[in-house]
Amino acid sequence: MIKHDVVVIGGGLAGMRAAVEAAEAGADVAIVSKMHPVRSHSGAAQGGINAALGNCDEDSPEAHAFDTVKGSDYLADQDAASAMCEDAPHQIIWLEHRGCIFSRLPDGRIAQRHFGGAGTPRTCYSADVTGLVILHTLWEQLERFGVKVYEEYFCTALCIEDGIGTGVVAYNMRNGQLELITAKATIFATGGAGRMYTKTTNAYASTADGMGIAFKAGIPLMDMEFMQFHPTTLKENGVLMTEGARGEGAYLLNSLGERFMFKYAPNKGELASRDVVSRAEWTEILEGRGVDGCVLLDMRHLGREKILERLPQIRELALDATGKDAFDEPIPILPGAHYTMGGIEANAWGATRVPGVYAAGECACISVHGANRLGGNSLLETIVFGARSAKHAIEYIKGVGTVRPSERTLKSEQERIASLMSRTSGTRAPVLRKRMNETMSANTFIFRDEAALAKAVDDLVVIRREFDESAYVMDKSSTFNTDLVGTFETDYLIDAALCLARGALERRESRGAQARTDYPERDDTNWLKHTLAWREPGKAPRLDYSRPVTITKFQPEVRTY
Ligand code: FUM
Repeated sequence: MIKHDVVVIGGGLAGMRAAVEAAEAGADVAIVSKMHPVRSHSGAAQGGINAALGNCDEDSPEAHAFDTVKGSDYLADQDAASAMCEDAPHQIIWLEHRGCIFSRLPDGRIAQRHFGGAGTPRTCYSADVTGLVILHTLWEQLERFGVKVYEEYFCTALCIEDGIGTGVVAYNMRNGQLELITAKATIFATGGAGRMYTKTTNAYASTADGMGIAFKAGIPLMDMEFMQFHPTTLKENGVLMTEGARGEGAYLLNSLGERFMFKYAPNKGELASRDVVSRAEWTEILEGRGVDGCVLLDMRHLGREKILERLPQIRELALDATGKDAFDEPIPILPGAHYTMGGIEANAWGATRVPGVYAAGECACISVHGANRLGGNSLLETIVFGARSAKHAIEYIKGVGTVRPSERTLKSEQERIASLMSRTSGTRAPVLRKRMNETMSANTFIFRDEAALAKAVDDLVVIRREFDESAYVMDKSSTFNTDLVGTFETDYLIDAALCLARGALERRESRGAQARTDYPERDDTNWLKHTLAWREPGKAPRLDYSRPVTITKFQPEVRTY
């Protein structure tokens, strides 16, 4: 049986940052990851990481917190948002001191670019491969501290004994064995749920794993209705074209050649917050000013030198997928599912309501992003809350004696998986996943209304039941059984999708990324509150609104850009 002080589920930026923090504090820490850490989706983050360094203009953590809270449409918990913004400059220096290569100003200081919804250039970057650069920096630190990584292990269940977290059960993908991994503290850092949509910027691995596991273990998911649609994703394949392009001065054009964003956001234009830009693009397309169902991202005027220095990856990605070279032609783009603002309910230290269980990064809802996240705050969140959750866990485990291995969770997982594998017919997970993707994309996209959302909930309840009663794994082998792993992933995605659709149906207002055509206004009187979704087996989740929004310095105001 495997035992550690702290086990981190997920090897992306939040997971590695948590593990390094715990290792530096002397804890016996391990990472459980379904893939090699440097292949994590964090590596797809392009444009940068926010911190009020003030290298390009006057700035302060308070100004950063204000922009974050305004961007969130006032749903962010302001204690958590302020903690993140206060810590940001320290974390950038921490990364810098560990060898992270940021792009530079001519005088050698870290360069910062404009990003949407920010009052000042605040986004530190490494050309347009920032996530990848930080990922490699943290991997080197894991190696340095000799952190054990259980690679190609898929976590299937959280163990809770006597009301406290005691580790996880994980499926070893190499040999098909289930392992009990006992730990005094468990930190989920498993990323988002973008794969519930047909088109997304997310990797194939972004399948709501930690969210699904926590939800099944009785921890609520919070604010799941808020899915961010990034304004610039490739029409062909949904791949991200960084907001950094607009930060460097790229234009958005409609079929008339107009920079249409100034109609919607007179002060900020292309650099309004993402929810505003995505809605504007979709409105242009719906009103007939699209170009073959898209709008255009025009970088031509930036010139070759700037594109090659600051945006080389997206030029190549666009060229590969579309044959269009950003030097010479505008790139057709669309809004696409990008970031799950909701997630496992946690406080400003990443602690969930189950002692010994934490969540950090995209799988968590802490909540620093509220109804709409600012670009550049997701990399920041992974680093800040990876570190904070580990700090809290280190203190917490000092008061924990020996933890009892949860043999009963191991046994129930063995039985559950044996029963799934013994089915000789039924519906395969990819079929159910496709139906889920279709109903989510058709009914819970940028503009939503009662009828569409009710249809999504109905469809998903049917899909949920069909999965429970008849999900069929055709491959019966025990070595790298991707059919079985894909079935686990689909299970988690269905739960996450149900929470999204149900939360969006109930929230009768428009706020941030939730735009209801039947309730077009923000309604602070009735809806300035978080949504908690609790599991009801075989049904849509039960919702409760007992968690208020924490407001400290910034009173809700009308939000314009
Ligand atoms: O556009 C981007 O580079 C994405 C950044 C983010 O989601 O924070």
